[in-house]
Amino acid sequence: MTVDLDRESEYFQNYSGFLCHDLKFELLSDGLIIHLHQPPDNIRYKHSYNERQFFKRAQQSSQALVKACNNKQRNIKTVLDLTGGWRMDSFILACHGQTVTSIEQNALVHKISAYSLGCARAIKPSAKAASRIEMIHNDSVDYLQSHGESGAYDCIYLDPMFPDHKSSAKPAKSLQILQKLTLNQDIETCFELALRKAGKRVVVKRPAKSSPISELGPDLVYREKTIRFDVYLT
Ligand SMILES: C[S@@+](CC[C@H](N)C(=O)[O-])C[C@H]1O[C@@H](n2cnc3c(N)ncnc32)[C@H](O)[C@@H]1O
Repeated sequence: MTVDLDRESEYFQNYSGFLCHDLKFELLSDGLIIHLHQPPDNIRYKHSYNERQFFKRAQQSSQALVKACNNKQRNIKTVLDLTGGWRMDSFILACHGQTVTSIEQNALVHKISAYSLGCARAIKPSAKAASRIEMIHNDSVDYLQSHGESGAYDCIYLDPMFPDHKSSAKPAKSLQILQKLTLNQDIETCFELALRKAGKRVVVKRPAKSSPISELGPDLVYREKTIRFDVYLT
């Protein structure tokens, strides 16, 4: 799959879905740069699966995301990501051999990550992982209700937007843009359906110190400094 730069640039130039956000795009061969002008801030964020630092980190098998979404038998082969966003987590899991179906409700966020995925498929080091990801623009509740037969996916993953902590430092630029463009939609229903449909486990990313997503306690927890992954065995 190659990226048709002319056709794609027409889409991004004509994009007017969010009148309150001044967004501009620069299309590159390995991804795209997003400029968000919101006085007094100007945020510049490059979205690419081939950024050197990200690509290197994506290969690390010691990271909590990779551990949480697999098991000792390494027989968790398929992952359904219900909160795709920029699809960075989807890409990391694909780097570790898993086949990932990644759902995102927001049309623009979906289009941006689909553009970068097209680039990543055409670049050798990332091509293999990129070919393991299918990106779908849909609401995850709708998707689960119409497609997600029980057991069709070994692991179902959720990374809902974290609540804003006024006192803490600003989140990464990528997250600041996501926060402007998107929101959590029916996350409780997504989680309940996920528990019913996942073949082996449901994994939820949470801020390190926050309570679990529901009253149900997780079976396993994998921690990093500021985040953790709650695992529910199904
Ligand atoms: C914190 S972001 C996920 C970031 C993602 N893990 C990554 O690696 O880029 C949460 C995303 O979930 C999406 N989302 C929230 N509710 C959803 C739903 N019901 N269906 C599909 N996407 C949803 C939001 O639009 C947002 O893009």
